[in-house]
Amino acid sequence: MSDMPSKEFRKAGHQLVDWVADYLSDIEKYPPLSQVNPGDISKRIPKSPPQKGEEIEKVLSDVDKILMDGITHWNHPGFMAYFNSTSSGPGILAELLTAGLGINGMLWKTSPSFTELERSMMNWFRQMVGLPENFWGIIYDTASTSSMHAIASAREQLNLGFREKGMAGRSDIPRLRMYCSEHAHSSIEKGALTLGIGLEGIRKIPVNEKFEMIPEKLGEAISEDIKNKWKPFCVVATVGTTSTTSVDPVESIAEICKRHNLWLHIDAAYAGATAMIPEMKWITKGWESADSIVINPHKWMFTPMDLSVYFTSKSDILKRAFSLVPEYLKTNKDDEVENLMDYGIQLGRRFRSLKLWFIIRYFGVEGLAERIKQHIELANEFAGWIEKETNLELMAPVPFSTVCFRVNPGNKTEDQLNELNEKLLDKINSSGKLFLSHTKLNGKFVIRLTIGSIRHERKHIVEAWELIKKSLGDLK
Ligand SMILES: Cc1ncc(COP(=O)(O)O)c(C=O)c1O
Repeated sequence: MSDMPSKEFRKAGHQLVDWVADYLSDIEKYPPLSQVNPGDISKRIPKSPPQKGEEIEKVLSDVDKILMDGITHWNHPGFMAYFNSTSSGPGILAELLTAGLGINGMLWKTSPSFTELERSMMNWFRQMVGLPENFWGIIYDTASTSSMHAIASAREQLNLGFREKGMAGRSDIPRLRMYCSEHAHSSIEKGALTLGIGLEGIRKIPVNEKFEMIPEKLGEAISEDIKNKWKPFCVVATVGTTSTTSVDPVESIAEICKRHNLWLHIDAAYAGATAMIPEMKWITKGWESADSIVINPHKWMFTPMDLSVYFTSKSDILKRAFSLVPEYLKTNKDDEVENLMDYGIQLGRRFRSLKLWFIIRYFGVEGLAERIKQHIELANEFAGWIEKETNLELMAPVPFSTVCFRVNPGNKTEDQLNELNEKLLDKINSSGKLFLSHTKLNGKFVIRLTIGSIRHERKHIVEAWELIKKSLGDLK
């Protein structure tokens, strides 16, 4: 009993690479948003597993027959709904190699190249986004995981014996409170849920008319909480919020954190990659004062899911929070090397840094920056078209590549407008050509268009614009 013979693997492998190449070059023949109904795909999958092996040819052909109708094509240039995780050629090749090597980088010893490439890539990436040398980086799967590790580090920094005694049932510790804006991503709340901080342990700070956290309100909230015997421990500032991509004023927030000795985490999951562009350096103001920061190359650096980069200036605290070494994982090199399992919840880890190595080398920093810059320019051009139309409204500033807008003919109540915009979005998304998303801003239903795919060109933005206008016309 052995693996698939090499000859068969090679043949199927070539076939699969051809399939992916054809898929990507013909992607526009698919609708960006899958149009199936719930259960449609599972109906096509046998209820029980096959007892005898099947031909790989049959499995490959079933990808088309069974799965493709139920795929929402994130790589489609009409996909402008969520921050794009697009698969670039070098990223896909690196994924193949990752699976082929099949290594697990839990310890330096379990593949020295793993740990050392990750260290080098974190150094490259740190320089690319202009963070100082005291920032140490590690790769996790998602920003949700990265931010959870930030909150865990913030909690560990308090030195209240959480490692040994936990949090529950203790009368010797105050309740902990952390802060983020009303527009912070739900992953921050999930991190707090996971760590026993609880939803009441998060205080949401109001935002200004540009959806940016108001630092004075943060200062007031912290003082009030201290008076009421809460223990503030962490602030999350967002650079590129999910709904509108607003940027919290990191410098002012950092001053408040310094005054109260609070951990400052920056969630730059979406927008962080733009720090590579000289014109966008303004977004990094105050970053040097942060304790941690997350940036997701799988959101806006053409990296296939998944890859989130977490930087911290206090890796010793992260290690203190998580390092736990059972006998079987001790090695005779432990004093000389970094074992990545010491820096987080997971033991085993995928060789994700290969993707950064392939992508950064293939495109070069300039190539990556130019592509991202073009997305920002296209979004601004699109926003300009919206502003020129009398019945369309721009609903938030456009600092990056996401545009929030709605239709407003001027003679409707807010409820009617919400209904009208929801209808418009449904119409657009059922066209099979374009996929947009929505958010609510101050109770108003707003349509969101985001650019960031490696396949987004100007013609796609023009096509999107024409389709939006046509859908609007069809609504009347
Ligand atoms: C600002 C921000 N932070 C965090 C996340 C969560 O990212 P992930 O899916 O990598 O956990 C998102 C997702 O869109 C986001 O927009």
